Amino acid sequence: MFPPKVQRLLRVLHLRAACCCSSSSSSSSSSSRLVLGIETSCDETGAAVLDESGDILGESLHSQKEVHLRSGGIVPTVAQRLHREHIERVVQEALTRSDVDPSRLAAVAATVKPGLALSLAVGLEFSRGFVRRHGKPFIPIHHMEAHALTVRMLQPVAFPFLVLLVSGGHSLLAVARGVADFLLLGRNLDEAPGDMLDKVARRLSLIEHPACSRLSGGQAIELLAEGGDGKRFAFSTPMARTLDCSFSFAGLRNQVTVAIVKKEAEEGVARGTPLSCANDIAAAAQHAVACHLARRTHRAILFCKANNLLPPSGPTLVLSGGVASNRYVRKTLSVIAETAGLRLLCPPGEFCTDNGVMIAWNGVERLRAGEGILPPGVDVRYEPKAPLGVDLTAEVKAAAIRLPPVKLEIN
Ligand code: KG4
Ligand code: ZN
Repeated sequence: MFPPKVQRLLRVLHLRAACCCSSSSSSSSSSSRLVLGIETSCDETGAAVLDESGDILGESLHSQKEVHLRSGGIVPTVAQRLHREHIERVVQEALTRSDVDPSRLAAVAATVKPGLALSLAVGLEFSRGFVRRHGKPFIPIHHMEAHALTVRMLQPVAFPFLVLLVSGGHSLLAVARGVADFLLLGRNLDEAPGDMLDKVARRLSLIEHPACSRLSGGQAIELLAEGGDGKRFAFSTPMARTLDCSFSFAGLRNQVTVAIVKKEAEEGVARGTPLSCANDIAAAAQHAVACHLARRTHRAILFCKANNLLPPSGPTLVLSGGVASNRYVRKTLSVIAETAGLRLLCPPGEFCTDNGVMIAWNGVERLRAGEGILPPGVDVRYEPKAPLGVDLTAEVKAAAIRLPPVKLEIN
């Protein structure tokens, strides 16, 4: 059961579903500072107005997911066109639903890094025009910082805490020490886990599967894996002998592809025809992804303990980003958290995937901390690639921490 605040926010999000792509909340506070957040880093055009306590006054989200599913992956020029077509309406809807005139906003926050250049450009251009027109301060947002801080909108979580962020573009482990103060312990060296799951889902032609046709690749793999036997395929956990916290999913995807090609030959089916053992492959792939994430996180926890980076009592692990909505990943991470004595917190799935709310909340956090608030006219550039925090990955590698055995078979 989530805390009452989360339940209230979830009711708001269910309202959004009922209204196609918008939501509203009647609760508004006249004294609290209000922030408009705008997200366009990948394939969601999102906007939301939040007050300082994290109440969502109004939200709107337009997802391009189905368009990209049909074209077999995100085409940046298509993503840009769709952001352009929807951004004005989405922002206006968030304002209308919150019943807030732009003059009442304390600031506008927008994602400027990292992400797809063409997508970031649309949000930044729109936001710059908006803040100039209305004379409002601008708060540029790092998309991964926003994923990391979302949990604090839902319940009190004191700094420092360890965070594992897993999405379509990233996997990273970091210690969040403050709103704009992160220590990076590990990151992906190649493909991100969400990207890998999306590609496996495409290779398995899951879009042809009636129950999966409207789901993202990761969601489709999770659904299919529920009825699968993960033990029928033994995919090895990536980088088992590399004693750091970096992630790699390209080799694992290759292992899965080899297994698919072999099964297609055995079953005598052409590429594109759903395999009878697709659910077993999905279960095994999901298990290998979860194990890789869990082992790297375990090492990060041990590194933090050895270097006193987390509080000795009640240390917290936060799991967020699109892939964090996967229940198998959550369960596997909960085994590690329990073994190591950490409290595991994951925002509900609706807050793990991209939306305008997380950007507005990051804006609130920065406004309260007085960090990175710019006057309306300042020139800001978008950055498709942008590291998060101070890089400690070399120190983690040098520590070469060996993991005690932990049983992660939870099927
Ligand atoms: O954070 P997000 O919405 O966008 C990025 O910042 O990338 O994450 C999207 C990714 C996609 O790759 C999608 O397949 C994956 O998150 N995803 C999932 C699940 N839901 C979304 N992966 C595994 N299981 C899920 N339930
Ligand atoms: Zn994201």
